[in-house]
Amino acid sequence: MKERLLTGDRATGSTFPIAAYVGTLKNRIERQEDYDTFIFIADYHALTTHFDNVSQIKENSLGLMKTYLSLGLDPEYVTFYRQSRIPQIYRLHVILSMLTKMPELERQPMLKEKLGLGYKLTYGLMGYPILMASDILIMNSDLVPVGKDNEANVEIASDLAIRFNSIYGKVFNIPKGLIGDVVVGLDGQGKSGKSTGGIYFTDDTATVKKKIMSMYTDPNRIHPNDPGKVEGNPVFIYHDYFNTNLEEVADLKERYQKGTVGDVEVKTKLFEAIEEFLKPIRAKRAEIDAKGDQFIIDILEKGEKNAQKVASETEAKILSAMGF
Ligand code: TRP
Repeated sequence: MKERLLTGDRATGSTFPIAAYVGTLKNRIERQEDYDTFIFIADYHALTTHFDNVSQIKENSLGLMKTYLSLGLDPEYVTFYRQSRIPQIYRLHVILSMLTKMPELERQPMLKEKLGLGYKLTYGLMGYPILMASDILIMNSDLVPVGKDNEANVEIASDLAIRFNSIYGKVFNIPKGLIGDVVVGLDGQGKSGKSTGGIYFTDDTATVKKKIMSMYTDPNRIHPNDPGKVEGNPVFIYHDYFNTNLEEVADLKERYQKGTVGDVEVKTKLFEAIEEFLKPIRAKRAEIDAKGDQFIIDILEKGEKNAQKVASETEAKILSAMGF
């Protein structure tokens, strides 16, 4: 039997930044055939920060699904579903919340980040990792590809699985994270995310060009013949992730450090590399858009049948272990 790979995305935007490719999308695309792959739209999870802004949830869910498919995630291998359609997740959330100690939630690094972005400290936001643990454990997941910013949440899920098993008897697998890098924004600040900015899979050529040409570089370099810094320079960070021409990148870095290449050339080369990366994805997206929303809903409904079956089997084990 194949091990299960599971991951999800909050429905807080209708499209992904290309940064998410580095964080988790690439890891799942490469492994979809080798694992029993479950990918879900975390639509209830979106409420942890967007409870007062739900009008976009449906559109966001469809948009994320279209991006998955245009990147090559394939319903033949992947069980796609909406979190809101799997009620066993919320019932497990109640149980796991009883086993979670407040300090575990208080020290989660993601909470600080979200509060820093101005989101309110609700009971739901505090419990974000418990909901995530419920997502992971109800499907008996083995491997969870996420970005570095979610690493601590996967650890909480493992801790809760171990705790539950030791109190009530073995029900859960102990999930492991598969951690990808978090990529900075185009200004070199924070992370590039669905709602925090970046280059998006759905950006057209003119938009990509505009965004790259106004990216931040080395702030201390004033003239093209000043030696510049490559480390921490957003333009080179993106080159390293998206330019497959390694010789070109090495050459640009060398000349940049010597002060023999201007920002415009470095950015133009990055623009060309990213366009190359986006071209096939855009073509696939156009095909998917032409099929209409019902095509997406059908894929979700089919996946939801499978996900509900797995979730109810796990729930039966949970209730039996607890003697309910
Ligand atoms: N926390 C993830 C994010 O930052 C989304 C998510 C919710 C998730 N539940 C999950 C990821 C379970 C992996 C497994 O978007």
